[in-house]
Amino acid sequence: MKRCWLCRAGLLLLLLSAALWLYWPALYRPAIADSVLPMSPAQIERGAYLARAGNCIACHTQPGAPEYSGGRRIATPFGDVYSSNLTPDVDTGLGAWRAADFYRALHEGRSRDGRLLTPAFPYPNYTRITRADSDALLAYLRTLPPVRRAPRAAELRFPYNTSLALQLWRRLYFRPAEFAADAQRSASWNRGAYLVDGLGHCNACHARRDWLGGVRDSRAYAGGEIAGLDWEALPLTREPPLDDAQAGEWLALLSSGVSQRHAVSGPMAEVVFHSLQYLHREDLAAMIEYLRSLPGEAQTPKPDRINARLLQTLQQRGEQVYGEHCADCHGEQGEGKPSHYPALAGSRLLGSPSPANAIRIVLYGGYPPSTAANPMPYGMPPFRPQLRDEDVAAVLTYVRSAWGNQAGAVLPAQVAKR
Ligand code: HEC
Ligand code: HEC
Ligand code: HEC
Repeated sequence: MKRCWLCRAGLLLLLLSAALWLYWPALYRPAIADSVLPMSPAQIERGAYLARAGNCIACHTQPGAPEYSGGRRIATPFGDVYSSNLTPDVDTGLGAWRAADFYRALHEGRSRDGRLLTPAFPYPNYTRITRADSDALLAYLRTLPPVRRAPRAAELRFPYNTSLALQLWRRLYFRPAEFAADAQRSASWNRGAYLVDGLGHCNACHARRDWLGGVRDSRAYAGGEIAGLDWEALPLTREPPLDDAQAGEWLALLSSGVSQRHAVSGPMAEVVFHSLQYLHREDLAAMIEYLRSLPGEAQTPKPDRINARLLQTLQQRGEQVYGEHCADCHGEQGEGKPSHYPALAGSRLLGSPSPANAIRIVLYGGYPPSTAANPMPYGMPPFRPQLRDEDVAAVLTYVRSAWGNQAGAVLPAQVAKR
């Protein structure tokens, strides 16, 4: 009897400390000072630029609906989430929000009524945004025409739809943070870090995540499959580090969507279209300077483990398909046409261990984004209607191993899945 009383007390103590561990950050929350928004034209203009850098428009606009009125579905592995209305409508948007409420949403991931927000809204990045930049963003959003449109509730599966699950996730992976400049580094490196880690939320896609969707620092830009999308975001850190010529290619890629040898595609084309093409060149260069300084992992090609006869059949068939359908644009030797058609020899996208992006591009085609520097991009036709799964697998096996490329074979079953 006595022992049982003891274990009950022990259990109670355990539960109490677990609850304290979970809820402590919420109980002990310093108040955020409100400020009057002066809304000078300079501040509004800066806010508009920051909104570009943060790509707020992409998630907060449903195709066909007014800009920033929300309702866009964001797919996550745990269910669907819908973005909020950021226009200044009083009932359904940010019309009644004070500057402090807005900063708290970005900084702590809490709505005006205290509700915890899901990290599909990238506040684990935006938490680094300074108070001054947060105020400028709100000043800009207040200039938008108000649109009455109630946000749709999230459709997450049990248990992810419970506040306890969100509390737990935040306790494991989220701490409100402030951007701390590194005095050892240049001003541009620090600017780059602020933009990449904060507003640009590049690791929302480019991180390698664990099974709960969390990221540890060392894997922040190591690349990985994007949650909810059949796309892989390539690693942004390299070993050996990016040389000057490659950094120059990136600058062209991020500002215009194409470089001499490459083009951005899929979700990255959207990022360049809505956000990066509008950034000042110094800001893009600063972002690249920061990314270049991070340690990367060397990629070692894995030898193919498929039967040698099958590999040879795929390669031979692939060479034939390439000559018939691809060589006109990508060149006999995979050299491409500068700024029009990307080179396949040495392509990072093609060389990735995962063939996901390459399969998607061949099946569904694609366009680099239309940008001020490259308003009429050349496109790639979809081959799903013309080529069988076997042919797609064969041509990809061929281009992944020709001209010095060293990625593995692609099997018809990998194509059929998509
Ligand atoms: C990757 C997609 C994505 C991007 C980019 C994004 N948001 Fe959001 N945002 C969301 C989603 C989804 C929600 C709703 C979260 C929820 O309800 O739990 C949200 C919610 C919010 C909220 C809370 C609104 C409320 O009613 O509680 C604010 C404020 C906000 N976003 C501002 C911004 C700003 C400012 C930017 C750009 C700097 C931005 N968002 C960029 C997806 C995004
Ligand atoms: C919505 C998801 C998403 C976000 C956010 C995103 N990227 Fe990407 N990025 C991708 C995907 C997918 C690819 C691979 C396809 C391609 O190369 O175009 C990619 C490719 C790239 C490449 C080419 C890599 C190479 O080795 O050639 C660069 C550079 C890049 N991203 C930089 C950035 C930067 C900088 C940011 C932050 C401002 C960013 N990305 C944010 C999805 C994203
Ligand atoms: C009409 C010209 C054209 C033809 C034909 C064509 N492509 Fe492309 N390809 C492009 C363009 C343009 C892009 C850039 C697309 C983008 O950015 O979304 C591209 C992109 C690619 C990429 C991504 C390369 C990278 O580094 O980003 C691969 C892989 C690819 N094509 C393979 C093929 C294969 C295999 C075939 C034949 C089955 C083929 N292409 C036929 C024009 C073409």
